[in-house]
Amino acid sequence: MRASEIRELMKLASRPDIVSFSGGMPGPELFPVEEIDEIYSGLPLSVKRDALQYGPTPGYPPLIESLKTYLKSRGLSLDGNRILITTGSLQAIYLTAKVFLDPGDRVVTEDPTFIGAIAAFRSFQVKLDGVPLDDDGIEMNGFVQQLDSKPIPKLAYLMPNFNNPAGLTMSRKRRIEVIETLKRRDIVLLEDDPYHELYFDESDRELVTPIKALAEESFPICYAGSFSKMIGPGMRLGWLLAPDEISLQCEIAKQSVDACSPTFTQVLAHSFLSQGKLDPYLKRLRIAYARRAASILKSLDAHMPDGVIWTKPRGGFYVWVTLPKGLDASEVFTASVNRGAAFVVGKAFDPQGIRNNHLRLSFSNPPEDQIEDGIRIIAGVIKEQMKK
Ligand SMILES: Cc1ncc(COP(=O)(O)O)c(C=O)c1O
Repeated sequence: MRASEIRELMKLASRPDIVSFSGGMPGPELFPVEEIDEIYSGLPLSVKRDALQYGPTPGYPPLIESLKTYLKSRGLSLDGNRILITTGSLQAIYLTAKVFLDPGDRVVTEDPTFIGAIAAFRSFQVKLDGVPLDDDGIEMNGFVQQLDSKPIPKLAYLMPNFNNPAGLTMSRKRRIEVIETLKRRDIVLLEDDPYHELYFDESDRELVTPIKALAEESFPICYAGSFSKMIGPGMRLGWLLAPDEISLQCEIAKQSVDACSPTFTQVLAHSFLSQGKLDPYLKRLRIAYARRAASILKSLDAHMPDGVIWTKPRGGFYVWVTLPKGLDASEVFTASVNRGAAFVVGKAFDPQGIRNNHLRLSFSNPPEDQIEDGIRIIAGVIKEQMKK
């Protein structure tokens, strides 16, 4: 485990007067507070009591049932698979890592990739090999090369939808190439999909179809999902949909981690799904985040100097900015924070923790009317540093 320089930087970003593009946090004013109030006050006393009790390790049985219906509606087959409710999807990643990884093993990831997964994998003393992304997703030559390097990797970890931090989405064609490649090698895929529902345009509903849904069980896929971005991260609820045998191993691992995920929020999540509250709420969320994304992209267009480039997300929370040669994200960060805007520096998402010429801007949390001011500050710092 490494003391995190990034965490130190982030402490600077917690001042209340700062426009923060740093945390991957939903906008608090978007939370379904009224729906949750209504659900809780409508629960019978016996269920309210259950909600405060320990529950079975795999999850609150009614939630498992409602989640099955939800996952089937998203094209996922449950045949030969089990659901394990986890304490956030980060726990699903952690448990999969605990089951598969020993010191010295290799994991192939996208580059850049999710900071939490990097930390979870590293805690098992493994070697991470990142493969760059292009506009269609993980770059295939590099992927194949890494998969075939010795020792053969134990896991491939991919985020096909609205990658954190890059905001990129894997094309259908690339998903099929990934399936063909992994199928021939029988390497386990850990597919992480917490932003699945947050596409901005209804026409992308097909595009986000999980690899697990397309692969038809041709090789083992552990699929991690989350309620964090579709209800709220304070629920601390996610899930792992994995082949029976793997799921049972993860369940055993979970018994010694936290025994069960919060029953209280599982009860609420079950009612949210079974009372049909999810779809209308997601419609509201997609509209709100699409507006924030449009606003940050417009501000970047208006204020960033030539030589700076960025991704154009179709959903999710993030824009990934590439700085011109010679600029360092930590220096841009320090000057920006002093003037009132924060983001996360690129090296947090580099599997090797080195390359630092990117910024991750999260547009989900700051109120829409502050986005332009924040971008103006960061762009001003970049312009000054380009002159040095
Ligand atoms: C790609 C990705 N995976 C997993 C998680 C973990 O989310 P949670 O544990 O809240 O479900 C996050 C959170 O930001 C994420 O961005």
